[in-house]
Amino acid sequence: MKYFLTASTRHLEPILRKNKAEIEQISCSRFSDNELSFQLKERMKGQSVTILASVLPNPNSLFELLAIAHLLRTNRVKNLTLIIPYLGYARQDRPTRAGEGATGIMVAELLKNLRADNLFVLEPHSPAIQRALGKNAVALNAAPLFAEYFKDKQIDMVVAPDKGAWKRAEWLVKLLPGAEAGWIEKNRPRPNQAVAKKLHGRARGKNILLFDDMIDTGGTIIKAAELLKENGAKAIYVAAAHGIFSDAAVKKLAKAPVEEIVVTNSLPQTEHPRIRVLNFLPLIKPKRKPAAWS
Ligand code: R5P
Repeated sequence: MKYFLTASTRHLEPILRKNKAEIEQISCSRFSDNELSFQLKERMKGQSVTILASVLPNPNSLFELLAIAHLLRTNRVKNLTLIIPYLGYARQDRPTRAGEGATGIMVAELLKNLRADNLFVLEPHSPAIQRALGKNAVALNAAPLFAEYFKDKQIDMVVAPDKGAWKRAEWLVKLLPGAEAGWIEKNRPRPNQAVAKKLHGRARGKNILLFDDMIDTGGTIIKAAELLKENGAKAIYVAAAHGIFSDAAVKKLAKAPVEEIVVTNSLPQTEHPRIRVLNFLPLIKPKRKPAAWS
């Protein structure tokens, strides 16, 4: 399989190469007014190709993805697969205040309109985003990765740090025999500020796995872990598909009552003694070719 990466997924290149994937190059130049121009280095007509590209907060990442997909279509590839490790803007899936829109829905619809033959998105945040991505899109559920990692840690309870994460916690519980599910009522008095109000479930003496789709500023997880400790939790672990870690989140999380934080490599991560990074690529099961990931 031939792969096209964008700047957002360069960190995955060594894993792909280890798995004998062919990484294709695109030449990118600029006109004098700074407009970008993309060109394939090799003929791709009739080939099956995969674009591995995230949508990051910087919209350049989305533009690069759209331009490469269009370039490949124009050059008549036969089969186009699109893998989106991290779909930024997905949290903006509905207006939350008067006058707001839903930029995440716009981004998802743009991806749907590329009409890729296969579209895989790792943990696309919400059912609304999943619907906007279209029926052809496969939402990759990271729960099996975390279940495998935590299977020997005697997890008694999987806790969703807010109501939106409840379905995910229920999923993970099914894969961790002996564990039950709990959830926390969360408030956001203002953007990026989280308050963990109430725990639904009994944490006393238990090993807890806090499970969310992403960690951004860390506020949600820190407040949830503090509440669980107040409720007598024994050990608290954290798992989330996407480790964004904005606003010095790693420093703040280091002081939180958590043993370990496990994320995937959907985004590049720097090494940290308490952060473990799992490879999400084995979750992708191509329809046409057998998986070649290790
Ligand atoms: C919210 O809907 C998400 O699922 C996460 O809970 C949230 O984005 C985490 O953000 P932070 O780490 O900034 O609290």
